[in-house]
Amino acid sequence: MKNQKVVEGLKKQHLFEIESAYVYLGMAAYCKGRGYDGFARFMTLQAQEELEHAQKFFDFLYEIEEEVELNELPAVTKEYESILDVFSTALEHEREVTKRIHDIYADALESKDYAAKDFLDWFIAEQREEEDTFLGIIDKLEKFNEVPTTLYLYDKELGRRQE
Ligand code: FEO
Repeated sequence: MKNQKVVEGLKKQHLFEIESAYVYLGMAAYCKGRGYDGFARFMTLQAQEELEHAQKFFDFLYEIEEEVELNELPAVTKEYESILDVFSTALEHEREVTKRIHDIYADALESKDYAAKDFLDWFIAEQREEEDTFLGIIDKLEKFNEVPTTLYLYDKELGRRQE
């Protein structure tokens, strides 16, 4: 059965997914401003993916006869120290998303809100994948140690992201 604490968590997460898109747009802007079109494209697509995640929460909330809240978004930064800093911050952000989703999941299980639990299963797997993606990129960036030619080639490679 629907649980109010879970519903509130889902509403908050809907907004946090939109906020995540905004965070990634800030990262895309940083990359674009430094001529890294590939990293910028990667982050722009990441922002779009976050909006798709938000849409899933939106649709589920209306399915269970709830409404979304559309509050003001906090401003985001376009300032980073390096490309490695961008992706390390992205990983930290994803870890925060994972934590929030796990918290709602735990509430859903505890309150026997199995419809919400079933909905969140997709996100549990998705978060594992997102963290793994960023960890892999950071691992490479650390090995490249900001060597300009290698970074240039990796920018081209990540820019080939399709979705
Ligand atoms: Fe929708 Fe990347 O968390």
